[in-house]
Amino acid sequence: MARETTEQRGLGKDWTAEKYIETAIKEIKAQVGDGKVLLALSGGVDSSVVAALLIKAIGKQLYCVHVNHGLLRKGEPEQVVQVFKHQMDANLIYVDATERFLTKLAGVSDPEQKRKIIGKEFIDVFADEAKKLDGIKFLAQGTIYPDITESKGVKAHHNVGGLPKELDFELVEPVKMLYKDEVRAVGKALGLPDTMVYRQPFPGPGLGVRCIGAITRDRLEAVRESDAILREEFAKGGLEGKVWQYFTIVPDVKSTGIIDGKRSWDWPVIIRAVNSTDATAATIEEIPYPLLHRITDRILSEVKGVNRVLYDLSPKPISTIEWE
Ligand code: XMP
Repeated sequence: MARETTEQRGLGKDWTAEKYIETAIKEIKAQVGDGKVLLALSGGVDSSVVAALLIKAIGKQLYCVHVNHGLLRKGEPEQVVQVFKHQMDANLIYVDATERFLTKLAGVSDPEQKRKIIGKEFIDVFADEAKKLDGIKFLAQGTIYPDITESKGVKAHHNVGGLPKELDFELVEPVKMLYKDEVRAVGKALGLPDTMVYRQPFPGPGLGVRCIGAITRDRLEAVRESDAILREEFAKGGLEGKVWQYFTIVPDVKSTGIIDGKRSWDWPVIIRAVNSTDATAATIEEIPYPLLHRITDRILSEVKGVNRVLYDLSPKPISTIEWE
Protein backbone atom coordinates (compact mmCIF):
# COMPACT_ATOMS: atom_id res chain seq x y z
CA MET A 1 0.00 0.00 0.00
CA ALA A 2 1.39 3.43 -0.98
CA ARG A 3 2.47 5.61 1.88
CA GLU A 4 0.14 8.54 2.63
CA THR A 5 1.67 11.97 3.14
CA THR A 6 1.37 13.77 6.48
CA GLU A 7 -1.12 16.11 4.79
CA GLN A 8 -3.29 13.21 3.65
CA ARG A 9 -3.30 11.94 7.23
CA GLY A 10 -4.41 15.36 8.55
CA LEU A 11 -1.04 16.12 10.18
CA GLY A 12 -0.16 19.16 8.05
CA LYS A 13 2.55 19.67 5.46
CA ASP A 14 5.59 20.51 7.58
CA TRP A 15 5.43 17.65 10.08
CA THR A 16 8.19 17.51 12.64
CA ALA A 17 8.44 15.25 15.68
CA GLU A 18 8.83 18.26 17.98
CA LYS A 19 5.66 20.00 16.73
CA TYR A 20 3.80 16.70 16.82
CA ILE A 21 4.74 16.19 20.47
CA GLU A 22 3.41 19.67 21.39
CA THR A 23 0.08 19.04 19.67
CA ALA A 24 -0.23 15.49 21.02
CA ILE A 25 0.34 16.71 24.57
CA LYS A 26 -2.47 19.29 24.21
CA GLU A 27 -4.80 16.67 22.76
CA ILE A 28 -4.02 14.11 25.47
CA LYS A 29 -4.63 16.70 28.20
CA ALA A 30 -7.92 17.75 26.58
CA GLN A 31 -9.07 14.12 26.29
CA VAL A 32 -8.17 12.82 29.75
CA GLY A 33 -8.43 15.94 31.95
CA ASP A 34 -7.50 14.75 35.44
CA GLY A 35 -8.46 11.11 34.67
CA LYS A 36 -6.20 8.11 35.18
CA VAL A 37 -4.78 6.24 32.19
CA LEU A 38 -3.57 2.64 32.04
CA LEU A 39 -0.98 1.32 29.58
CA ALA A 40 0.45 -2.14 28.90
CA LEU A 41 4.10 -1.27 28.44
CA SER A 42 5.94 -4.09 26.68
CA GLY A 43 9.15 -2.18 26.02
CA GLY A 44 8.53 -2.34 22.26
CA VAL A 45 8.84 0.82 20.19
CA ASP A 46 5.15 1.73 20.02
CA SER A 47 4.16 1.26 23.66
CA SER A 48 7.42 2.89 24.83
CA VAL A 49 6.79 6.00 22.73
CA VAL A 50 3.18 6.20 23.93
CA ALA A 51 4.41 5.90 27.52
CA ALA A 52 7.00 8.65 27.06
CA LEU A 53 4.40 10.94 25.43
CA LEU A 54 1.86 10.36 28.19
CA ILE A 55 4.45 10.80 30.95
CA LYS A 56 5.28 14.19 29.43
CA ALA A 57 1.59 15.12 29.09
CA ILE A 58 0.06 13.82 32.32
CA GLY A 59 2.90 12.46 34.49
CA LYS A 60 1.63 10.37 37.39
CA GLN A 61 -1.90 10.14 36.00
CA LEU A 62 -0.42 7.38 33.82
CA TYR A 63 -0.12 3.86 35.21
CA CYS A 64 2.17 1.62 33.17
CA VAL A 65 2.02 -2.14 33.64
CA HIS A 66 5.03 -4.12 32.43
CA VAL A 67 4.24 -7.83 32.31
CA ASN A 68 7.35 -9.99 32.20
CA HIS A 69 6.08 -13.26 30.75
CA GLY A 70 9.51 -14.86 31.13
CA LEU A 71 9.91 -14.90 27.35
CA LEU A 72 11.64 -11.53 27.00
CA ARG A 73 15.19 -11.08 25.78
CA LYS A 74 18.10 -10.79 28.19
CA GLY A 75 18.14 -7.35 29.84
CA GLU A 76 14.76 -6.20 28.50
CA PRO A 77 12.65 -6.05 31.68
CA GLU A 78 15.57 -4.35 33.46
CA GLN A 79 15.75 -1.71 30.72
CA VAL A 80 12.02 -0.95 30.95
CA VAL A 81 12.31 -0.44 34.71
CA GLN A 82 15.49 1.62 34.35
CA VAL A 83 14.15 3.96 31.66
CA PHE A 84 10.57 4.43 32.82
CA LYS A 85 10.76 4.11 36.59
CA HIS A 86 14.22 5.49 37.33
CA GLN A 87 14.81 7.96 34.49
CA MET A 88 11.29 9.13 33.67
CA ASP A 89 9.83 8.70 37.18
CA ALA A 90 6.71 6.96 35.89
CA ASN A 91 4.14 5.03 37.87
CA LEU A 92 5.39 1.64 36.73
CA ILE A 93 3.92 -1.60 37.94
CA TYR A 94 6.35 -4.42 37.18
CA VAL A 95 4.84 -7.88 37.24
CA ASP A 96 7.12 -10.90 37.06
CA ALA A 97 4.66 -13.50 35.79
CA THR A 98 7.34 -15.94 34.57
CA GLU A 99 6.19 -18.83 36.76
CA ARG A 100 2.54 -18.37 35.77
CA PHE A 101 3.34 -18.40 32.04
CA LEU A 102 5.85 -21.25 32.08
CA THR A 103 3.52 -23.41 34.17
CA LYS A 104 0.64 -22.86 31.71
CA LEU A 105 2.96 -23.58 28.77
CA ALA A 106 4.51 -26.75 30.19
CA GLY A 107 4.14 -29.66 27.78
CA VAL A 108 2.37 -27.58 25.09
CA SER A 109 4.07 -28.09 21.72
CA ASP A 110 1.57 -26.77 19.15
CA PRO A 111 2.68 -23.27 18.01
CA GLU A 112 -0.83 -21.80 17.74
CA GLN A 113 -1.78 -23.24 21.11
CA LYS A 114 1.36 -21.69 22.62
CA ARG A 115 0.47 -18.29 21.12
CA LYS A 116 -3.11 -18.55 22.43
CA ILE A 117 -1.94 -19.42 25.94
CA ILE A 118 0.59 -16.55 25.98
CA GLY A 119 -2.00 -14.08 24.62
CA LYS A 120 -4.74 -15.12 27.04
CA GLU A 121 -2.43 -15.24 30.03
CA PHE A 122 -1.14 -11.78 29.15
CA ILE A 123 -4.68 -10.35 29.16
CA ASP A 124 -5.45 -12.11 32.45
CA VAL A 125 -2.33 -10.80 34.20
CA PHE A 126 -2.93 -7.29 32.87
CA ALA A 127 -6.62 -7.39 33.88
CA ASP A 128 -5.68 -8.58 37.39
CA GLU A 129 -3.40 -5.55 37.76
CA ALA A 130 -6.04 -3.19 36.30
CA LYS A 131 -8.62 -4.42 38.84
CA LYS A 132 -6.26 -3.52 41.68
CA LEU A 133 -6.18 0.11 40.55
CA ASP A 134 -9.00 2.46 41.46
CA GLY A 135 -10.66 4.95 39.16
CA ILE A 136 -8.99 4.14 35.82
CA LYS A 137 -10.98 5.69 32.99
CA PHE A 138 -8.69 5.39 29.99
CA LEU A 139 -6.59 2.75 28.25
CA ALA A 140 -3.64 3.95 26.19
CA GLN A 141 -2.55 1.87 23.20
CA GLY A 142 0.37 1.97 20.79
CA THR A 143 -1.79 1.58 17.69
CA ILE A 144 0.08 2.93 14.64
CA TYR A 145 -1.21 3.85 11.17
CA PRO A 146 -0.35 0.55 9.41
CA ASP A 147 -2.31 -1.30 12.14
CA ILE A 148 -5.39 0.55 10.94
CA THR A 149 -4.82 0.45 7.19
CA GLU A 150 -3.31 -3.00 6.69
CA SER A 151 -4.70 -6.30 7.75
CA LYS A 152 -1.45 -8.15 7.05
CA GLY A 153 1.01 -6.16 9.19
CA VAL A 154 3.09 -7.65 11.95
CA LYS A 155 0.41 -6.90 14.54
CA ALA A 156 -2.10 -9.01 12.61
CA HIS A 157 -0.31 -11.87 14.39
CA HIS A 158 -1.47 -10.62 17.75
CA ASN A 159 -3.66 -13.22 19.28
CA VAL A 160 -4.42 -11.41 22.44
CA GLY A 161 -8.16 -10.74 22.15
CA GLY A 162 -9.61 -7.97 24.29
CA LEU A 163 -9.90 -6.96 27.91
CA PRO A 164 -12.86 -8.27 29.91
CA LYS A 165 -16.13 -6.28 29.73
CA GLU A 166 -15.84 -4.73 33.20
CA LEU A 167 -12.59 -3.12 32.06
CA ASP A 168 -14.21 -1.21 29.24
CA PHE A 169 -11.99 1.88 29.14
CA GLU A 170 -11.99 4.79 26.69
CA LEU A 171 -9.01 4.49 24.33
CA VAL A 172 -6.13 6.95 24.10
CA GLU A 173 -4.12 6.33 20.92
CA PRO A 174 -1.68 9.21 20.46
CA VAL A 175 0.43 7.69 17.64
CA LYS A 176 -2.31 6.12 15.59
CA MET A 177 -1.81 8.45 12.60
CA LEU A 178 1.95 7.78 12.38
CA TYR A 179 4.10 5.36 10.43
CA LYS A 180 6.81 3.46 12.28
CA ASP A 181 9.68 5.78 11.28
CA GLU A 182 7.66 8.77 12.55
CA VAL A 183 6.93 6.96 15.82
CA ARG A 184 10.70 6.38 16.16
CA ALA A 185 11.39 10.08 15.46
CA VAL A 186 8.92 11.04 18.20
CA GLY A 187 10.58 8.56 20.59
CA LYS A 188 14.01 9.96 19.81
CA ALA A 189 12.78 13.56 20.34
CA LEU A 190 11.32 12.47 23.69
CA GLY A 191 14.74 11.21 24.78
CA LEU A 192 14.19 7.45 24.69
CA PRO A 193 17.41 5.43 24.26
CA ASP A 194 18.37 4.31 20.75
CA THR A 195 18.27 0.66 21.81
CA MET A 196 14.54 1.13 22.46
CA VAL A 197 13.70 3.46 19.55
CA TYR A 198 15.52 1.45 16.87
CA ARG A 199 14.71 -1.95 18.28
CA GLN A 200 14.28 -4.77 15.78
CA PRO A 201 10.78 -6.30 15.48
CA PHE A 202 10.10 -8.73 18.31
CA PRO A 203 7.05 -11.01 18.41
CA GLY A 204 4.50 -10.67 21.22
CA PRO A 205 5.01 -14.32 22.27
CA GLY A 206 8.71 -13.48 22.49
CA LEU A 207 11.33 -16.19 22.84
CA GLY A 208 8.47 -18.65 23.29
CA VAL A 209 8.22 -19.16 19.51
CA ARG A 210 12.02 -19.57 19.26
CA CYS A 211 12.13 -22.37 21.80
CA ILE A 212 10.56 -24.82 19.37
CA GLY A 213 7.89 -27.21 20.59
CA ALA A 214 7.18 -27.59 24.31
CA ILE A 215 9.11 -24.89 26.22
CA THR A 216 11.52 -26.08 28.89
CA ARG A 217 13.41 -23.71 31.17
CA ASP A 218 16.85 -24.99 30.19
CA ARG A 219 16.18 -24.73 26.45
CA LEU A 220 14.59 -21.28 26.94
CA GLU A 221 17.76 -20.15 28.71
CA ALA A 222 19.80 -21.45 25.75
CA VAL A 223 17.63 -19.30 23.42
CA ARG A 224 18.00 -16.24 25.66
CA GLU A 225 21.77 -16.57 26.15
CA SER A 226 22.54 -17.30 22.49
CA ASP A 227 20.30 -14.38 21.41
CA ALA A 228 22.21 -12.07 23.76
CA ILE A 229 25.54 -13.20 22.26
CA LEU A 230 24.24 -12.74 18.72
CA ARG A 231 22.98 -9.22 19.49
CA GLU A 232 26.22 -8.27 21.22
CA GLU A 233 28.38 -9.51 18.34
CA PHE A 234 26.12 -7.86 15.72
CA ALA A 235 26.46 -4.58 17.60
CA LYS A 236 30.26 -4.92 17.79
CA GLY A 237 30.38 -5.86 14.10
CA GLY A 238 28.39 -2.75 13.11
CA LEU A 239 25.34 -4.72 11.96
CA GLU A 240 22.93 -3.43 14.63
CA GLY A 241 20.30 -1.23 13.00
CA LYS A 242 21.42 -2.46 9.55
CA VAL A 243 19.92 -5.94 9.60
CA TRP A 244 16.14 -5.95 9.88
CA GLN A 245 15.72 -8.87 12.27
CA TYR A 246 18.17 -11.36 13.79
CA PHE A 247 17.77 -13.93 16.48
CA THR A 248 18.48 -17.52 17.50
CA ILE A 249 16.29 -20.59 17.64
CA VAL A 250 16.74 -23.77 19.67
CA PRO A 251 14.79 -26.73 18.29
CA ASP A 252 13.81 -29.70 20.41
CA VAL A 253 16.41 -31.95 18.77
CA LYS A 254 19.74 -33.26 20.02
CA SER A 255 22.88 -34.36 18.26
CA THR A 256 26.20 -35.83 19.33
CA GLY A 257 29.24 -33.78 20.16
CA ILE A 258 32.54 -34.29 21.92
CA ILE A 259 33.93 -32.33 24.84
CA ASP A 260 37.03 -33.17 26.92
CA GLY A 261 37.19 -36.54 25.22
CA LYS A 262 33.62 -37.37 26.24
CA ARG A 263 30.56 -37.74 24.04
CA SER A 264 27.86 -35.07 24.49
CA TRP A 265 24.20 -35.19 23.51
CA ASP A 266 23.01 -31.58 23.22
CA TRP A 267 20.92 -29.05 21.25
CA PRO A 268 21.88 -27.02 18.20
CA VAL A 269 21.45 -23.22 18.06
CA ILE A 270 20.18 -21.89 14.75
CA ILE A 271 21.01 -18.33 13.71
CA ARG A 272 18.53 -16.36 11.62
CA ALA A 273 19.30 -12.91 10.17
CA VAL A 274 16.93 -11.47 7.58
CA ASN A 275 16.20 -8.27 5.75
CA SER A 276 12.69 -7.14 4.93
CA THR A 277 10.58 -4.02 4.67
CA ASP A 278 7.22 -5.23 5.90
CA ALA A 279 7.77 -8.87 6.99
CA THR A 280 5.76 -10.28 4.07
CA ALA A 281 8.99 -11.28 2.29
CA ALA A 282 12.55 -11.55 3.55
CA THR A 283 16.05 -12.11 2.19
CA ILE A 284 19.06 -13.51 4.01
CA GLU A 285 21.76 -11.22 5.40
CA GLU A 286 25.21 -12.20 4.16
CA ILE A 287 27.00 -12.27 7.50
CA PRO A 288 30.79 -12.11 7.09
CA TYR A 289 32.38 -15.51 7.87
CA PRO A 290 34.73 -14.18 10.58
CA LEU A 291 31.71 -12.81 12.46
CA LEU A 292 29.83 -16.11 12.05
CA HIS A 293 32.87 -17.95 13.43
CA ARG A 294 33.11 -15.59 16.41
CA ILE A 295 29.42 -16.01 17.23
CA THR A 296 29.69 -19.78 16.85
CA ASP A 297 32.74 -19.99 19.13
CA ARG A 298 31.08 -17.89 21.79
CA ILE A 299 27.80 -19.80 21.71
CA LEU A 300 29.61 -23.15 21.89
CA SER A 301 31.74 -22.09 24.83
CA GLU A 302 29.22 -19.95 26.77
CA VAL A 303 25.77 -21.47 26.29
CA LYS A 304 24.89 -24.49 28.38
CA GLY A 305 23.47 -27.56 26.67
CA VAL A 306 24.54 -26.58 23.14
CA ASN A 307 27.07 -28.41 20.95
CA ARG A 308 26.33 -27.19 17.41
CA VAL A 309 25.60 -23.86 15.62
CA LEU A 310 23.84 -23.59 12.25
CA TYR A 311 23.01 -20.66 9.95
CA ASP A 312 19.59 -20.68 8.29
CA LEU A 313 19.86 -19.58 4.64
CA SER A 314 16.16 -19.89 3.78
CA PRO A 315 14.35 -16.82 2.42
CA LYS A 316 10.68 -15.94 2.93
CA PRO A 317 8.90 -17.37 1.00
CA ILE A 318 9.30 -20.41 1.13
CA SER A 319 10.23 -20.24 4.80
CA THR A 320 8.67 -17.91 7.33
CA ILE A 321 10.91 -15.61 9.37
CA GLU A 322 10.15 -17.31 12.70
CA TRP A 323 10.44 -21.09 12.98
CA GLU A 324 6.94 -21.52 14.37
P1 XMP B 1 6.74 -14.80 10.01
O1 XMP B 1 7.36 -15.85 10.89
O2 XMP B 1 5.25 -15.00 9.84
O3 XMP B 1 6.94 -13.43 10.78
O4 XMP B 1 7.43 -14.68 8.68
C1 XMP B 1 6.71 -12.17 10.22
C2 XMP B 1 7.01 -11.11 11.28
O5 XMP B 1 6.05 -11.19 12.32
C3 XMP B 1 6.69 -11.47 13.56
N1 XMP B 1 5.83 -12.44 14.27
C4 XMP B 1 5.01 -12.12 15.27
N2 XMP B 1 4.76 -10.93 15.88
N3 XMP B 1 3.22 -12.01 17.32
C5 XMP B 1 3.88 -10.89 16.91
O6 XMP B 1 3.67 -9.83 17.50
C6 XMP B 1 3.40 -13.24 16.76
O7 XMP B 1 2.80 -14.23 17.15
C7 XMP B 1 4.36 -13.27 15.67
N4 XMP B 1 4.80 -14.30 14.87
C8 XMP B 1 5.70 -13.74 14.02
C9 XMP B 1 8.04 -12.05 13.21
O8 XMP B 1 9.00 -11.83 14.25
C10 XMP B 1 8.37 -11.30 11.94
O9 XMP B 1 8.88 -10.00 12.22
